[in-house]
Amino acid sequence: MKAITLLGSTGSIGTQTLDILTQYPEQFRIVGLAAGNNVEILAAQVRQFQPSIVAIRSEEKLAALKAAIADINPQPIILAGEAGIVEVARYGDAESVVTGIVGCAGLLPTIAAIEAGKDIALANKETLIAGGPVVLPLVEKHGVKLLPADSEHSAVFQCLQGVPKGGLRRILLTASGGAFRDWDTPKLADVTVADALKHPNWSMGRKITVDSATLMNKGLEVIEAHYLFGMDYDDIDIVIHPQSIIHSLIELQDTSVVAQLGWPDMRLPLLYALSWPERIYTDWQQLDLVKSADLTFQEPDHEKYPCMQLAYNAGRAGGSMPAVLNAANEEAVALFLEEKIKFLDIPRCIEWVCDRHQAQNHANPKLDDILAADNWARQEVLTAMENLASRPQTISLR
Ligand SMILES: NC(=O)c1ccc[n+]([C@@H]2O[C@H](COP(=O)([O-])OP(=O)(O)OC[C@H]3O[C@@H](n4cnc5c(N)ncnc54)[C@H](OP(=O)(O)O)[C@@H]3O)[C@@H](O)[C@H]2O)c1
Repeated sequence: MKAITLLGSTGSIGTQTLDILTQYPEQFRIVGLAAGNNVEILAAQVRQFQPSIVAIRSEEKLAALKAAIADINPQPIILAGEAGIVEVARYGDAESVVTGIVGCAGLLPTIAAIEAGKDIALANKETLIAGGPVVLPLVEKHGVKLLPADSEHSAVFQCLQGVPKGGLRRILLTASGGAFRDWDTPKLADVTVADALKHPNWSMGRKITVDSATLMNKGLEVIEAHYLFGMDYDDIDIVIHPQSIIHSLIELQDTSVVAQLGWPDMRLPLLYALSWPERIYTDWQQLDLVKSADLTFQEPDHEKYPCMQLAYNAGRAGGSMPAVLNAANEEAVALFLEEKIKFLDIPRCIEWVCDRHQAQNHANPKLDDILAADNWARQEVLTAMENLASRPQTISLR
């Protein structure tokens, strides 16, 4: 039986991971659970999965969490704050830590888990985008496995099984096209938060759903693919595939293309990240190619969705720039969700911040440099927001 710790247990990734664990009680058991704010769901999870340790990020919610699970016997260790989340990540005999926290908040807990010798089932892409230069050497040093749980990267990873070193020529990441796939560009100026939160194929947390609508999610995934698979940015392409049946493809040196297919269901990449290299039988809906109808593909529209190019630029700049891109995006998306900026202001804010970071980019950042760059970028978004009126309405792609 594999021991698992789950960070971000109350979110979309977290609850789907627990759904898997409910179905396979003989294969997996929970050691630790951690979440941000949601006492009610976290308490119910503690009751059901009986972890040895639990933490809530919000210090103010600690008393409520303790009260909600006071009758449970034996009591788990109950912690709060960032230090509490980090403690859960490194605690006990968990072999694998599923990182389902949203945003760069996942970075320090992920590092703690790696330093404690735990394998990582990586859903929290922001961790690798911001912290790639620090996380990858640590993975190497501690001899742990960094297994992708993002559906596209899991697809690439699955396609790569059995491919010899040097066999990979190109990665093709598929993208559904997000909420505004079928909208004309001029209409994007007036989209509402509710519009942006309507993803056509996947049910996910709010931040990643907005990232899918701007296609920044795909841009972040390009950087994630660069770090996970060591591919040059010139060899990572994006293709729009509205049906989300092909989760990504790889091209091999001889031009053969290998793809991974399935219904859009995040439990599949999550299960593979936990069971690799084994394949576990599931009774989930089998893919029916006839029912899945036409599989279609389009070029990504960089004019309509400039976030992809911003991400390629940040990835190519390397160093602390991806951390800045990521933090600027997190803040800009939060401002959009609070209705303080418009949808099209998201790339404009990010461009402003990345431009200003160019002269200060750390080529080989240490953890402190990354955290400082992240912090700086978050402040800088507020300056960007104040200056939006004096900036061009669209950003220039280069
Ligand atoms: N959802 C998907 O299908 C999907 C697919 C691919 C990749 N991902 C990636 O997986 C990650 C999670 O996405 P999601 O859709 O599951 O997000 P979500 O539904 O918003 O869930 C986020 C989780 O993180 C917790 N959290 C938020 N801030 C935290 C903090 N500072 N410290 C500790 N915990 C915190 C939340 O706790 P509370 O709810 O208790 O506040 C919640 O449990 C993201 O990086 C996303 O890009 C998601």
